[in-house]
Amino acid sequence: LLNTVRNALDRKQLVVENKILKKKVSKNYEMIGESEAINQIKVMIEKVAQTEARVLITGPNGTGKELVAHQLHEQSQRANYPLIEVNCAAIPSELIESELFGHVKGAFTSAVKDRAGKFEAADKGTIFLDEIGDMSLSAQAKVLRALQESMITRVGADKDIKVDVRVVAATNKDLKTEIAEGRFREDLYHRLAVILIKVPALNDRRDDIPMLISHFAEKIALEQGNARKEFSAEAIKLLQEYDWTGNIRELRNVVERLIILGGNEISENDVQLFASK
Ligand SMILES: Nc1ncnc2c1ncn2[C@@H]1O[C@H](COP(=O)(O)OP(=O)(O)O)[C@@H](O)[C@H]1O
Ligand SMILES: [Mg+2]
Repeated sequence: LLNTVRNALDRKQLVVENKILKKKVSKNYEMIGESEAINQIKVMIEKVAQTEARVLITGPNGTGKELVAHQLHEQSQRANYPLIEVNCAAIPSELIESELFGHVKGAFTSAVKDRAGKFEAADKGTIFLDEIGDMSLSAQAKVLRALQESMITRVGADKDIKVDVRVVAATNKDLKTEIAEGRFREDLYHRLAVILIKVPALNDRRDDIPMLISHFAEKIALEQGNARKEFSAEAIKLLQEYDWTGNIRELRNVVERLIILGGNEISENDVQLFASK
């Protein structure tokens, strides 16, 4: 009996530890904000994460599209399997096929051995195709096939491999325009955009700015091992009126700059001096 109790307790401890671990992981991708727009996105993530539906995340640079993708994965049943990110804009078009689908030895000059691609790596998990609007048309055709048939073929191979992957994609481009101009396949668009999540520009949710400033001030203090600096109400108000073309990424940089260059409490004057563009 004692052993049974002990085992049960151990198991319980494990569950608790796992939960703590999960929380820690999630914290890095926590979406700060309570504006109407962000709340709507959070509700949408909650509804959609549990399903297998493909999601297309759109919005300007620096708005938090990657955070949305991570949340979708973490809140899904696939959370214990990998989330594999592919930055489609960063991979040269002649390499993307091999990157996504892998290759067999000898498929091209530098293919010295068999290699699995990102789709295989994401099996049972999620693949996040970031900046999909920058993917070449030929790669789009291959991705379309993978989505239609849940099958991929390594470059140079003759057998297909079945994959069980949920696809989440993101872009800062207006894919409707890309389609009209012949740069994006309409059929792929419809495969990807079962659910559309539009992340608004920071200028359209200024209510979130005070919370974001406080969040970043906390994070930056932790990173630098310093005491946290406060921002005066006037400083916050001024930052709330800025034109944030670089969105949350830009806000974070400005907060960091102010913490480094500003006084012990960040004042309106500090903002005028150091946050101007
Ligand atoms: N709602 C948010 N709360 C906290 N941090 C955020 C939020 N949105 C974005 N960020 C942070 O801003 C930066 C840019 O976000 P990211 O997801 O990379 O943007 P995008 O992919 O849309 O360009 C990242 O460091 C991210 O952690
Ligand atoms: Mg991004």
